[in-house]
Amino acid sequence: MENPRNLIIVIFGASGDLTSRKLIPAIFSLKNQKLMPVKYAILGVGRTKISSEEFRIKMRESIISFSEEKVSDENLISGFVKDLYYHSMDNYSESGYSEMKSYLQEIDNLYSIGGNYIFYMATPPSMYEIIAVNLDKVGLCSQDSGFRRVIIEKPFGYDLESGKKLNKKLHELISEDQIFRIDHYLGKETVQNLLVTRFANGMFEPLWNRNYIHRIEITSAESIGVEERGGYYDSSGALRDMVQNHLLQMVGLTAMEPPSSLDADAIRNEVLKVFQSLQPIKEEDVPNQVIRGQYTGSLIRGECITGYRYEKDVAVNSRTETYVAMKFFINNWRWGGVPFYIRTGKRLPTRVTEIVVHFKQTPHHLFQREAGKLTANQLIIRIQPDEGMLLKFDMKEPGAGFNVKNVNMDFHYKDLANIRIPSAYERLIHDVMLGDSTLFSRDDEVETAWKFLYPIQQAWAKNPGIKVFGYPAGTWGPEHANDLIDGDDLTWRYPCKNLADEELYCEL
Ligand code: BG6
Repeated sequence: MENPRNLIIVIFGASGDLTSRKLIPAIFSLKNQKLMPVKYAILGVGRTKISSEEFRIKMRESIISFSEEKVSDENLISGFVKDLYYHSMDNYSESGYSEMKSYLQEIDNLYSIGGNYIFYMATPPSMYEIIAVNLDKVGLCSQDSGFRRVIIEKPFGYDLESGKKLNKKLHELISEDQIFRIDHYLGKETVQNLLVTRFANGMFEPLWNRNYIHRIEITSAESIGVEERGGYYDSSGALRDMVQNHLLQMVGLTAMEPPSSLDADAIRNEVLKVFQSLQPIKEEDVPNQVIRGQYTGSLIRGECITGYRYEKDVAVNSRTETYVAMKFFINNWRWGGVPFYIRTGKRLPTRVTEIVVHFKQTPHHLFQREAGKLTANQLIIRIQPDEGMLLKFDMKEPGAGFNVKNVNMDFHYKDLANIRIPSAYERLIHDVMLGDSTLFSRDDEVETAWKFLYPIQQAWAKNPGIKVFGYPAGTWGPEHANDLIDGDDLTWRYPCKNLADEELYCEL
């Protein structure tokens, strides 16, 4: 594995949750895998007034609490935190940036870095623009000495207009190849494995189209609620938080044509084509094609679960959706007429993300089925947890006659001995250090995704009569979501933590 060039990572929002829960543990893990540059330093920037030493102590605690590898070796942690620095600054104050630049230069000289800097915006989205503008004012966007890269967390804007505006502003300051828009789902090993499954195996591709596939279903369910993020979430909702990015990216990788190479643009061009082929949902069709819901309080295993409107920092009359299910089509030769169903929600019965490819039934039914039910083959690509793949197909039940039973053939990543699945952030930070933007959303992808959601956002904004269905925490969302699925007796799959199981409430 290639080692990145010497560099400094500057994290804006260093006193926030993302830094302590995800970023620092990921960089720590990269160091332990010897994937960090020979010389590097990390400069945390935040409003909280603490010293570098206090920042090191805080980050040490984060590593102990949140690192995926449970590290007990004190030397490893001490060896890591010694390269952390902190600078307290208000992101809106111009003079703060000049001071930060001097400090950065000091660290650069100390380590002989040579001017390669990555600026990670782990701040609230409203600050992305001002940070970029101020970095530019003090000359930190220019690549005259060393590279300058900017990592931007999602959400990238909150609708088509703001997404475009942010792109435009950033492009005035830096070029597209300096911008790395994070969609952490693309950093997941199993999401990348979708490309390998589809394009390294000859047997799937001939079936991967409207002739053999009946429908595609993508679920990203969470059992947690909004936790401490009520303030952010209430102004975002599931459509912006999950659909615009994570779910549509999974649609893109599932539906794309084979890329000509593994080059970043070759792959992203194909995903973009999928987004451009999404059949727009007309505003008047939104109530029938898009179901939104909000969790209400309930009792789960004897524990009282608070309804969304009573969560911290959420308005008591909030109409923000914590659940979205939708049906749409992709207008191209491969997918014409095949419905795509996607759903995501908080406070559902379990945490599961998976893609289900439902194949068409055989044209002629020769055999008797279990309980007289006709089944069809399914390929389930499990993104998390119990990462793996499951193929459901029919076999003869031993004995007289020709009774047929639906059986499972499954692969679980955990069966690969000594394999640790790296966290998404490890992969993505490493890629930015190498300058590889394959797993990052490009400007046109982000805008096209917003464009697809525009009529939905418009319909919801203009028409308060479109219902936000309540669903008790711990259930699979509003029952109306079942009406989206065309076909008698067809429902969503109800996945369990274990890939091979399926039952409405297996985790509860
Ligand atoms: C984030 C969303 O992007 O993804 C969160 O903002 C959500 O609301 C999270 O909980 C889910 O990520 P994962 O990796 O746990 O599926």
